[in-house]
Amino acid sequence: MSAPKILATGRCLPSRVVTNEELSRQVDTSDQWVFSRTGIHSRRFCTGESGLDLAAGAARQALDRAGLKPEEVGVCLVATFTPDYASPSMACLLQERLGLKEDTLCFDLNAACAGFLYGLKTAHALLAEAARPYALVVGCEVISRVLDMTDRNTCVLFGDGCGAAVMERDESAVWHTVFGSRGDPASIMVEGPGPVPSAVHMDGKAVFRFAVEVVEASIRQLLEAEGCSIDDLDLVVCHQANARIIDHVARKLKAREGLFYKNMARYGNTSAASIPIALDELVQEGSLSPGMRVLTVGFGGGLTWAGALLRW
Ligand SMILES: CC(C)(COP(=O)(O)OP(=O)(O)OC[C@H]1O[C@@H](n2cnc3c(N)ncnc32)[C@H](O)[C@@H]1OP(=O)(O)O)[C@@H](O)C(=O)NCCC(=O)NCCS
Repeated sequence: MSAPKILATGRCLPSRVVTNEELSRQVDTSDQWVFSRTGIHSRRFCTGESGLDLAAGAARQALDRAGLKPEEVGVCLVATFTPDYASPSMACLLQERLGLKEDTLCFDLNAACAGFLYGLKTAHALLAEAARPYALVVGCEVISRVLDMTDRNTCVLFGDGCGAAVMERDESAVWHTVFGSRGDPASIMVEGPGPVPSAVHMDGKAVFRFAVEVVEASIRQLLEAEGCSIDDLDLVVCHQANARIIDHVARKLKAREGLFYKNMARYGNTSAASIPIALDELVQEGSLSPGMRVLTVGFGGGLTWAGALLRW
């Protein structure tokens, strides 16, 4: 199995750190409650930064590390459910900010927390016919702009951030992926766009049940397709919604300690940004090196889910 090559990654987080302790001064909650239920201690919220600032920061870093100039990019996709505007898309704004060529395929996609993996799959397909052989795939969210800061059920869970990856055209690449969608506004929903102030509404227990079901099933499907076992993987990078979801799946699959990466303690749930942020952290700390077998799974609003087995 040879997965399409991700040449480099980047990330950009807002500077403002918001701790559970700070939130407990706004809503009736505590660090102990939030951390024990979710594994989250703090998150970042944008204050001065726009989503575009984050996207441009992460994308420039990824391009620099890949040794590429903006004019070499043929496809630019931004996965987000919290764009700066309904239109223009974040991808079009990035085209201008980065100086991508005008014939670059630029658009946003919304598959909530599975969005980055939908983006990788879409970019891989589009690269076959794109004008140039490199794609920029960005997961970018400013979820603080749609949070109801009086609702303790949801406001403690999410954070803002952005991760980006540069992918190279590889038409011979065969990779194992799984994708799914199940229309269900009752489990998790965000209003808008429109004049009504938007807010995340969620049935936490229903989302938890959905997540553990599809994450475990997706991993089993990918392992079967690859003809390998969980012990043959070097790393599993799940969407960083909640440590208990990840721990539950890891236990069910009898995974070794440390196989599943977790960083939600610092960032909370950053939706489409969480997987590329995690991949970038792993690369930068030297934990992810060429040839490693990395399994990634995203899941969230829609409902949507996606998984991919990558050879790094
Ligand atoms: C959200 C989640 C942490 C809530 O945990 P839970 O154990 O299911 O908690 P419940 O919703 O049953 O609430 C239990 C109690 O805690 C309270 N509570 C909720 N949020 C709280 C908070 N931030 N601080 C303190 N108490 C809180 C509830 O009001 C409830 O109180 P009550 O019994 O007096 O009504 C959990 O359901 C979860 O992780 N779900 C998945 C969510 C997710 O990851 N979504 C994104 C997917 S992309």
